[in-house]
This record gives sequence, C-alpha cells and structure tokens, in this order.
Amino acid sequence: MAKKIKVSAPGKIILSGEHAVVYGYPEVLSAIDKRLFVEIEESKAGLSVFPSEGRSYVEHALETVKTKLEVGKLDNLKVVVSSEIPIGCGLGSSAAFAVAITTAFFEFLKLPRNLKKINEIAYGIEKKQHNNPSGGDNTISTYGGFLLYRKETEMFKVFSSLKTRVFPSLFLINSGKPIETTGEMVDRVRRFYLRSPLKVEKTFKEVEQVTRGFLKFLSKEESNLGELVKTNEELLERLGVVSKKTMRLIRKVEKIGGFAKISGAGGVKENSGIMIAYHADPEKLISFAEKERLDMFRVKLGEKGVRIEQNAC
Ligand code: PMV
Repeated sequence: MAKKIKVSAPGKIILSGEHAVVYGYPEVLSAIDKRLFVEIEESKAGLSVFPSEGRSYVEHALETVKTKLEVGKLDNLKVVVSSEIPIGCGLGSSAAFAVAITTAFFEFLKLPRNLKKINEIAYGIEKKQHNNPSGGDNTISTYGGFLLYRKETEMFKVFSSLKTRVFPSLFLINSGKPIETTGEMVDRVRRFYLRSPLKVEKTFKEVEQVTRGFLKFLSKEESNLGELVKTNEELLERLGVVSKKTMRLIRKVEKIGGFAKISGAGGVKENSGIMIAYHADPEKLISFAEKERLDMFRVKLGEKGVRIEQNAC
C-alpha cells in the first residue's frame, strides 16, 4: 500500500502588533482552533493536486522544500489540501499551508521532525507569496499557543512562548474578504511611512505600548482587555488599513458596549477581513450579530501548533 501522510497546522489571530511587526516592533499572536490539512500519498502518475486550483501553490512549495533540503525528486505525489480557515481574511491560511506541507514532506522523506527547520522553510514559502512577510504567521502556526514575536532583521527573528491565563471568551466576525492582498496592504503602509516617517513611527510606538498591555493582560497584571482592543483598532485606523464599512461596524459594536479590532493586514476598499470582538456580556454580542446577520463565531485561543494526523503505509 502507498505511504499516506496527513498533517494539520492552525490558523492564527494577531492580538496586537500587525504591520508594526514588519518594522521590527513586537507582536502578540495566538493559534486558533481552525486548522488546514495537507495529505500526501505516493502515486505513479506524477503530481496531482486536489483541489486543482491549489496546484501552483503546491508546486511552488515543492520547489522551495527541494531546494532547502537539497533533495532531488519529489514528483510522484498526490496532494490533497482541505481547510477550516477562511482564505485571505487575516487568519493565516497561507502560513498554515506552508507549515503543513513542509511538515508533510519532512515525514514523507523520513527526516527527523525539526520545528526550527520547518518554520524556516515555511517562511521561505511565505516570502515567495507575500514579498516581505514578518514571519510571525508561520512561526505561530508551527509552534502554536501564544507567542511574542519580533523580527529584528531578516536573519534574526526572536519569539517567546507565552504561558497565559485562561482567556476570556472572544469572537471572530468576518467583515468579508478584502479586495487587497496582504502584500498590497503592507505596501500601502510602506508608502505612508515614506511620506510621513515620524507620524508612522509614533503610531508604531503606541502600538508597541498596546502590545505590552496585552502581555500584561496575559500575565494577569492588567485587566482591561476591552480598552486594549479599542486602542489597537484606533491605531490601525490611523495607519489607514481599515475600510469605512468596517469602521462603521466596529462603532456599532462599541455602541452596544463591546470592543472590536481587525486582525492581520486589513483592507480599505471594501472589507477588512477578520475582526476580533469582545464583550463582557457575550450574549449582547451574540444577539447583535444575529440582528445584523453577521458571520460571527466563537474562537478558542492557544491551540496546538503543527501536528501529524496520520503517517501510515
Ligand atoms: O493578514 P495576514 O494574516 O496576512 O497578516 C499579516 C500581518 C502583517 O503584519 C500585516 C504582515 C506580516 O507579515 O506580519
């Protein structure tokens, strides 16, 4: 029987620090209970990919893995990708794919499981996809849990696993898939930075204060989660990564006593992807979402990183 391997990797949310992280500031991320699955199996008929739209991503991942691991042939494969993570909404689906497929190849080639190496290769795959990623998404998808992450330089990235308290009930609201890609949003902030470096640096410094506030919250030193979410959102709006439509929705959440922020690259033309929402009384948020017919779901944080689901002959 042909060798069959199944691997899963989690999506993520960014509690604070998106965009600023590209400029060397810290971010706090959490793995979530939505995963992407990659199955690979030996086949006799070259490379086949399901769903077929994923073929170019798989080919490109294969090339990166082959180069980085210096292996020759990895061609006769059936690759099946399935996912619970909505694509292109800021939940890290592309990083989860990069991590899961890299790990699947490690298993397939019977290489010792080496998270550091897997993370490095997944970053290489992400780089081809997004030009200048911080590497935060692939790191959280590899290691899971909660992380404090910082990219000092291209070569030097540091992160620390955060042992945390039980996190209050959080919801994710899907404001819709942004028209812009992550790369385009990162470029938008870069242009803003080039026009007004002092202004943008000042905003990043304030983002860093919020990120530190989240660290305190996670270590039970500070309890105002709502205020942290609200301030973070204000700063992201100042960076110009939130659409008018999303801002209107967030103001409505605030009106009922809740708090919300976008998580990830955002979007300005129409939608801004996933939003994190919090209310001290979750029932209020649930009835609001029903009334507004929002795509809202509860999320579990601090989930496990990449995982082998099956490795059988
Ligand atoms: O929207 P996502 O999941 O691609 O997250 C992007 C986060 C940014 O800070 C905007 C970019 C990055 O590479 O960290």
